[in-house]
Amino acid sequence: MTAATPLPSSTAPHEPPAEAVAPLIRGVAVLEALTEAGGTLSASALERRTGLARSTVDRITATLARMGYVRQAGRDAVLTPHVMELGNAYLAALRLPALLDPYADALADELDESVSLAVADRDGIRFIHQATRRRAMSVSFRIGDLLPAERTAPGPLFAADWAETEWSAWRARRAADPSDAGFPAVPPRVPGTGVGDGFEARADRARADGWALDDQLIEPGLVAVSVPVRDPAGGRVACVASVVSHTSRHTAADLRATLLPRLRTAVAAMETELREAPPPYPGPPPAGLAGWTTASKHELGRDFVESLARGLTVLTAFGEGRSALTLTDVAQATGLARATARRALITYEHLGLVTAEGRTFALTPRVLSLGYPPLSRTTLARLATPRLRALTDRLHEPAALAVLVPGTDPPEIQYIAVATASRVLTVDITVGTRLPAARTSLGRALLAPDEPRGYALADEELESGLRSIAVPVRDRTGRPVAALNVATHAARRTLEECVTELLPELRATATHIQTDLHTASRFTRVPPS
Ligand code: PHB
Repeated sequence: MTAATPLPSSTAPHEPPAEAVAPLIRGVAVLEALTEAGGTLSASALERRTGLARSTVDRITATLARMGYVRQAGRDAVLTPHVMELGNAYLAALRLPALLDPYADALADELDESVSLAVADRDGIRFIHQATRRRAMSVSFRIGDLLPAERTAPGPLFAADWAETEWSAWRARRAADPSDAGFPAVPPRVPGTGVGDGFEARADRARADGWALDDQLIEPGLVAVSVPVRDPAGGRVACVASVVSHTSRHTAADLRATLLPRLRTAVAAMETELREAPPPYPGPPPAGLAGWTTASKHELGRDFVESLARGLTVLTAFGEGRSALTLTDVAQATGLARATARRALITYEHLGLVTAEGRTFALTPRVLSLGYPPLSRTTLARLATPRLRALTDRLHEPAALAVLVPGTDPPEIQYIAVATASRVLTVDITVGTRLPAARTSLGRALLAPDEPRGYALADEELESGLRSIAVPVRDRTGRPVAALNVATHAARRTLEECVTELLPELRATATHIQTDLHTASRFTRVPPS
């Protein structure tokens, strides 16, 4: 086998090529089902939605749990923030979010309206950024959501460049799916209302005008105006920027008259950024895969589907400066045998998650359908809560996460997540409680996070008998954004025991929370709560 070996040309969508990896197809089906359901499904619901046998669902879920992509909560499988590393690989390779998100955010601030960036995904559009300012009762979309092109403002701008094959695929889909059931992010299309009709004419107009409108094609009240952002090399549409509003503030005509000029100015700045940005610096490929899968196989035996774990790792070989990879690149980055990497790529091409061009492969926007939309709206409190629970279950002591309240003097902290132990502790800590920062370990860890040993103790200061130890949780830039503590009773542990027994567990949990936060916040804003 050489790197130049061509992959089989596209096969019928329902018939996987002979070399496709069946467990990888099933694993992707499970991830997509969980994503569509909002992030959580019971094993029996997964069975129903994927058509897989219960034993298969269980083995796939166990493997995804081992990879840190789902966690098991009772009978439910729940997507975890770590799964966002798959979508992050696509977004980093695409590079548009890193370069253009700040312009979209600034425009949203300037206009006090939502601004989004979308790319073409076959005959749909998929969001790669959302700067959301939506107050009205309209739906609001998430990164990774897929919309039918004909019911949006960006759609006609992409369709302006479609060839006949794309138009016939679009017509076939419209006929086969009259209610837009294949687009769960949008309200159903009501047949007979004419929504999405006249799309060819809208595409012609968009080509001539260089902008397009959505006048309540998704739902009553929702209006948008869009402008294409062109790639400096070649001039094709790289993505489309939209300003989204509500008819209570702007009619569609009004959007065009008042907001389109400012959108155009922002898009011109985006195009300058694309032209002038230095070439991407390739990030490191994933590390240590081969040893990890072998160890997992040893530990979990037949519950660990190694071909699924290996196959998913192929997606993480892509990233910033690593957008077009040869088979050799993928094998080197992942440590997989070439034959294994090749079969995974064939499988992904079949599933529409990878495209091949000559000898190189690239991720498609569809990779965002593997977990991104539900998780792109997560909060620090939400991602930390299961970690706090696990910590409390191990130590049998209550744990809490808190942030500094902005603008308080003297500074105050506020609890954003708590896990209570079954033991009765004197203090009653609930989410939302505020306390003086200086008198709590949490506050001290936040106010002086760089103390030599990196932790803070509070000894019976808030309440007699209450002892606690805290460590900071830092964002991607290293700034402390929250603190995590464990509390105990003075009669139960000495101060020294707090350090020797509690601190290592506390640090391990803080590291997990921090890692999740860094993955989740790479391309989205993760608010405290
Ligand atoms: C959005 O960003 O939510 C959006 C953009 C364009 C549309 C509709 C919604 O046509």
